[in-house]
Amino acid sequence: MTQSRTRISKAVIPAAGLGTRFLPATKATPKEMLPVVDKPAIQYVVEEAVTAGLSDVLMITGRNKRPLEDHFDRNYELEETLTRKGDDTRLARVQESSDLATMHYVRQGDPRGLGHAVLCAAPHVGDQPFAVLLGDDLIDARDPLLSRMVEVQEQHGGSVIALMEVDPAQIHLYGCAAVKPTEDETVVQVTGLVEKPDHADAPSNYAVIGRYVLDPAVFDVLRKTKPGRGGEIQLTDALQALASDPDLGGPVHGVIFKGRRYDTGDRGDYLRAIVRLACEREDLGPDFRDWLRSYVTEEM
Ligand code: UTP
Repeated sequence: MTQSRTRISKAVIPAAGLGTRFLPATKATPKEMLPVVDKPAIQYVVEEAVTAGLSDVLMITGRNKRPLEDHFDRNYELEETLTRKGDDTRLARVQESSDLATMHYVRQGDPRGLGHAVLCAAPHVGDQPFAVLLGDDLIDARDPLLSRMVEVQEQHGGSVIALMEVDPAQIHLYGCAAVKPTEDETVVQVTGLVEKPDHADAPSNYAVIGRYVLDPAVFDVLRKTKPGRGGEIQLTDALQALASDPDLGGPVHGVIFKGRRYDTGDRGDYLRAIVRLACEREDLGPDFRDWLRSYVTEEM
């Protein structure tokens, strides 16, 4: 087990999936670039990492990586035009994403699964615990999760995953955790994990959601992990190995999340995220809420 007192500073964001649920929008654009109101989904995720104190961000990209890299890079032409026009508000919006974090990129040539994507981060991460944030999972900024997970990792060592209670009929859509309580009712010890179980085989209705703080021992485990469900190298399988043998990389704990979360890779959830965030925006919200109210009452 890797013991470390260094504060966790690196975040890994896998964004190399094919996004087939969102075709044809994702034919030539990564799903993480789809806008949620007026910002690409991925920018919310990078902002969340930075808010939790992780400003070294490694993105795992795939075949359509250009828009992701360009979004977090300077755009001198646009900046110059907006400067010339004296449009400081829009200029600030353009610069926001390039000033956010220290960005690094590595390419996952072949999308062989989330576990394989995380393994691509090994040379950059080295031997310190690190965070993983799924690029299509959006956690509402008002419901901080990652900073709590970092605290729990610092307290217990090992790895920490995020769990959310779901309707048992939905558990087959998620990784699912078998858990034991701890003294803290918001934290559980994870004793086992299974990827997308049938309802009848699920050990609980705690679904694994897309935030992780991992001990670097996960890399060795991933190197030995055979393709699992769907022929992909599953992060859940590696976490199952860690949870069942604490000598490998320390214990696995779960932080129970009760806040707002959207899977922007799912069309329904994507729409809900946009409507909710737009309603709550100071600039757009008042008009949009009025329209939405009359749409729902008069036209539905
Ligand atoms: P998903 O399970 O949502 O898969 O990946 P997907 O391929 O992106 O989307 P669908 O199901 O075809 O619509 C979960 C996360 O893991 C990343 C994805 O980008 C997403 O953030 N991922 C998945 C990779 O980076 N590489 C992979 O090989 C697989």
